[in-house]
Amino acid sequence: MNTQKSPVSRRAFLKTSAGLAAGALVVARTVPDLTAASVASGPHQATGTRIGEVTSTSAIVWTRLTAAPVRNQTGQDFTVNVREVPGDQLPKAAGPVDELRGACPGAPGRVRVRYGPREDLSDALATTWVDVTASTDFIHQFPLRGLRPGTHYHYASEASAPGGAAPTAVFRGSFETAPAPDAPAEIRFCVMTCQGYPDRGHPEGHHIYPAMLALKPQFACLTGDLVYYDNDAPRASTVRLARYHWERMFSLPRLREFNRQVGTYWLKDDHDTLSDDAWPGRQMGEFTFAEGQSIFRQQGPLAEGPTYRTFQWGRDVQIWLVEGRDFRSVNTMADGPEKTIWGAEQKAWFKRTVAASTATWKILVSPTPFVGPDRPSGKNDNHANAGFRHEGDELRAWFKANVPDLFVICGDRHWQYHSVHPETGLNEFSVGAASDEHAAGSPGEDKRYHRFHLVKGGFLSVDVKRQSGQCLIRCQMHDVHGAVVYSWQRERNVTA
Ligand SMILES: [Fe+2]
Repeated sequence: MNTQKSPVSRRAFLKTSAGLAAGALVVARTVPDLTAASVASGPHQATGTRIGEVTSTSAIVWTRLTAAPVRNQTGQDFTVNVREVPGDQLPKAAGPVDELRGACPGAPGRVRVRYGPREDLSDALATTWVDVTASTDFIHQFPLRGLRPGTHYHYASEASAPGGAAPTAVFRGSFETAPAPDAPAEIRFCVMTCQGYPDRGHPEGHHIYPAMLALKPQFACLTGDLVYYDNDAPRASTVRLARYHWERMFSLPRLREFNRQVGTYWLKDDHDTLSDDAWPGRQMGEFTFAEGQSIFRQQGPLAEGPTYRTFQWGRDVQIWLVEGRDFRSVNTMADGPEKTIWGAEQKAWFKRTVAASTATWKILVSPTPFVGPDRPSGKNDNHANAGFRHEGDELRAWFKANVPDLFVICGDRHWQYHSVHPETGLNEFSVGAASDEHAAGSPGEDKRYHRFHLVKGGFLSVDVKRQSGQCLIRCQMHDVHGAVVYSWQRERNVTA
């Protein structure tokens, strides 16, 4: 818990953890008394909440206190990206970042979370109150433990001014815990990637958010490029500008509405760590790769420890979420056995946990592709490129030999496809950019690989259910409004 009262330096922030603290639990039956005076004074919660790392018994609730109840509605707006303007000529902030349109300056205060299965929270437990300050960008992540499996939880994130006066803001939401690992259960989840800001397709946020919400997924994977530090104006050349990108994106009404009621697993890629195809050690202006790593961990509802992790949802579904930036070799290094994206520890973890898994369906969710095909030249950043061929071949061969049913759902590419690797039979689904305006870049349909190929935005949904002694999995590609544009299904015999 951080109880510092004064802002700390940018360097000090980087040494501060995301602020994970268990906090003693108390039963809190009373609804807070929101008076007009306390509400007017703030702090507020313009950036909403995020629910992450959900298991059958735990979850993280991400909170942030803000000076105003909603994002800045006025101030300098940015409507261009690098498709219209060269990167070094993107418009810059003409005044203080706090005054830009879409900014949500933070505010000090106290926050706690009440949560329980009943919507009226009459059975709610409460965390302790935690002070937030500039040292964590006014963010606190509450780990909730001891939850019931397969249960719909409701929560209220309550804010008050520093020192503990009357509550000033209550932000409500809900999420679902995973069924126990031995429980057969119907599962539905969504996967999205690559959301630009100027090309979001609607002033209040990308169409995919209401479209995904309408499917009532139990969770969603946000598979990288959740903001574009380098491509969307203003370029994030400082830590403050980087945080502005997160404020501006995740305070959009449609994103706030989605994230308050769907648990999400966050994966980072290049543009939301630093810049296009970035690797450790790179820098953009004053802003460093290491700062980008720290900010992602702070902005996402992410537990401490490695950002590669695995989650099981009932007996039939296990997902592996992998890290593609932290451990990678320099992209320009000559390919060979030493060149890596995953790094040795992540590879050992992956092989060990996949071998130990008893889940019916094993799904690798990766911020970058394994099959592609990708653009033949000029791209040297993922396992579908010649630049990482050695590790790509090694992993694809391992999948085939050890877990032939495994398939990949990937982000990164701005078009939708289902492809099958000609040599190993590995299936890969690229979920597409988050908006049609952001879709582009495919080298074209290639019949040797593609079962489906469409240069459009959208998202993927996955459904798993048991029926007549079989477990069915169905992957559906959706357009940005939710219409199904492609469907693929597999079955496996299962015992009851
Ligand atoms: Fe992208």
